[in-house]
Amino acid sequence: MSHLFTPYPLRGVTVPNRVWMSPMCMYSAPATGEHVGRPTDFHLAHYTARALGGVGLVMLEATAVRPEGRISAWDLGLWSDDQIPAFARVAASVKAAGAVIGVQLAHAGRKASTTQAWNGSAALEGDLAWQTVAPSPIAFPGLPAPHELTIGEIAQVVQAFADAAGRALAAGFDVVEIHAAHGYLLNEFLSPAANHRTDGYGGSLENRSRIVLEVIDAVRRVWPSDKPVFLRISTTDWIMEDPDTDASGWGLDDSIQLARWAHERGVDLIDASSGGVLPVPIPHTVDYQTALAARLRAESGVPVAAVGRITEPEQAEQLLASGGADAVFLARALLRDLSWANNAAASLGEPRRLILPYGRG
Ligand SMILES: Cc1cc2nc3c(=O)[nH]c(=O)nc-3n(C[C@H](O)[C@H](O)[C@H](O)COP(=O)(O)O)c2cc1C
Repeated sequence: MSHLFTPYPLRGVTVPNRVWMSPMCMYSAPATGEHVGRPTDFHLAHYTARALGGVGLVMLEATAVRPEGRISAWDLGLWSDDQIPAFARVAASVKAAGAVIGVQLAHAGRKASTTQAWNGSAALEGDLAWQTVAPSPIAFPGLPAPHELTIGEIAQVVQAFADAAGRALAAGFDVVEIHAAHGYLLNEFLSPAANHRTDGYGGSLENRSRIVLEVIDAVRRVWPSDKPVFLRISTTDWIMEDPDTDASGWGLDDSIQLARWAHERGVDLIDASSGGVLPVPIPHTVDYQTALAARLRAESGVPVAAVGRITEPEQAEQLLASGGADAVFLARALLRDLSWANNAAASLGEPRRLILPYGRG
């Protein structure tokens, strides 16, 4: 059997294979009104299609734990119990199609209140816009300055992640992923480029990591011990690699330590992405990110999923066979090809029962 199509037991959940759908904002939820933040028929079809296409796990896009934590006004959200039934519908459909269902819980911090990506992720204006929040009142280039969170407001954010996890559980999700990557709120605390605090949430690596560890603890208190928790991080923010800046940033050594702390607190797998704190150049070689994931896995001893520029079945299989990752998340390749996983199974010579949704039981 190939590595890619070997089931992956995680606590009480067995993921049928290691080809997973990476979280991708669709910017397609209602921005206002009573259905704000709720998945629609589009989301139901979009996610169920990838499950029928053979992925082992579908990770729903960044889903805001508070309204002001949305990246754009059209993001999904789980900040209210009213939003649970619409998520339950998607979860049931994806599970009926044979995949494990996860949701990425997110707060966009100083990169919130923007237009959709196809409109340039620019600052929203007018009635749709809101005041963003962050560890420090430092603007992301091109966006308005955020409000600096008080200690009391940090505690509310931590609680919001736990409350959203409780709603995901009620909606029937198998996995929650905490989004601490891509320069959004939790990543802003981690990186000294965005966190200039002088209290217990800034300064040392321990202090900058504090909110992430508090979120993990809070989520784990409501999330059952037989269900997995993932953590998406940016293994580097690429700031220290930028020849034009001597600013301090977040790097792989920091990620190795954070992965160990997170694992001790009940995170089962690190989803290893990179970048997003500042718009610095990123070397887009094929393995620019997967090589960092492999090093993180080898040096932390924590299970890791690789993501970024994975497009070919043999490439994905080799990543797993070489010990570079425990699973792969695919994003753009799955937008292009709904059945990437089924086609990969065929090209890797996998048994027919793993290729088709029929008979998965
Ligand atoms: C349309 C789109 C939306 C995305 N939205 C999210 C998101 O909600 N959360 C997240 O962590 N990453 C998001 N990403 C990043 C992807 O999950 C993935 O890490 C990245 O695209 C690299 O993988 P790829 O080379 O397979 O596309 C998004 C990417 C795309 C293309």
